[in-house]
Amino acid sequence: MNIILLGPPGAGKGTQAARLQAERGMVQLSTGDMLREAVASGTPVGLQAKAVMEAGELVSDAIVSALIGERLDSADGGGAIFDGYPRTQAQAEALDLLLAERGTSLDAVIELDVDEDALVGRICGRFSCARCGTPYHDRFKLPRQEGVCDVCASTEFRRRPDDNEATVRTRMAEYRAKTAPILPYYEARGLLRRVDGMAPVEEVATQIDAILNSAEDSTSA
Ligand code: AP5
Repeated sequence: MNIILLGPPGAGKGTQAARLQAERGMVQLSTGDMLREAVASGTPVGLQAKAVMEAGELVSDAIVSALIGERLDSADGGGAIFDGYPRTQAQAEALDLLLAERGTSLDAVIELDVDEDALVGRICGRFSCARCGTPYHDRFKLPRQEGVCDVCASTEFRRRPDDNEATVRTRMAEYRAKTAPILPYYEARGLLRRVDGMAPVEEVATQIDAILNSAEDSTSA
């Protein structure tokens, strides 16, 4: 199964993709994570992407589609969860091609339907453990012991440089202008499913699981 999780910044794509990877053996392919890795290691792609990401704008289609192309084969066994990709019509068409070259295709495109104003609060308070990546939030989920990661006991945490209100607003505007217009491309092919992204995390998970179970049933029928 290959699925796309679509939704504005903070909609919960990464949260749900990580869960699906852990529970279903699928592989999370997050272009945001790949770009952040590239920035952190100072690769040529990272050097090009850094300022664009900090401004909340989209990195070029060629760069992100090349990154996905490089990682796609790692999802051979369990299938891929595309998290934050595609984000433009050109990327959507590139993904179809990359999948067709591997004799596979998309099974579902899941849109997390959310209230953008509530998302600013979700994003601006978040931070994660610098060692194991466990996510936290200033208001919703602090470590049990102040300054110590619940999972690995590390005392180092990090915040994304693009998680400030001005940049989040630009990221949302980019989503409305360039990403939301690709929804009809998938709707026309009968692939688009919507879930209520404002529901609690567990409830969003249940809605997504129902979609995947029914896609699995129709694939095996
Ligand atoms: P990227 O890393 O993809 O960021 P994003 O799309 O802005 O999404 P986020 O990671 O902020 O949010 P999310 O939807 O994953 O939510 P999360 O689960 O973390 O991209 C960053 C940048 O990279 C882009 O701006 C662009 O510059 C570049 N880029 C990346 N891909 C690109 C592409 N394809 N093309 C061009 N440029 C690209 O959840 C957020 C918070 O909410 C967390 O604290 C979480 O715990 C909490 N939460 C999640 N679900 C719920 C819930 N149901 N209820 C309450 N809280 C919840």
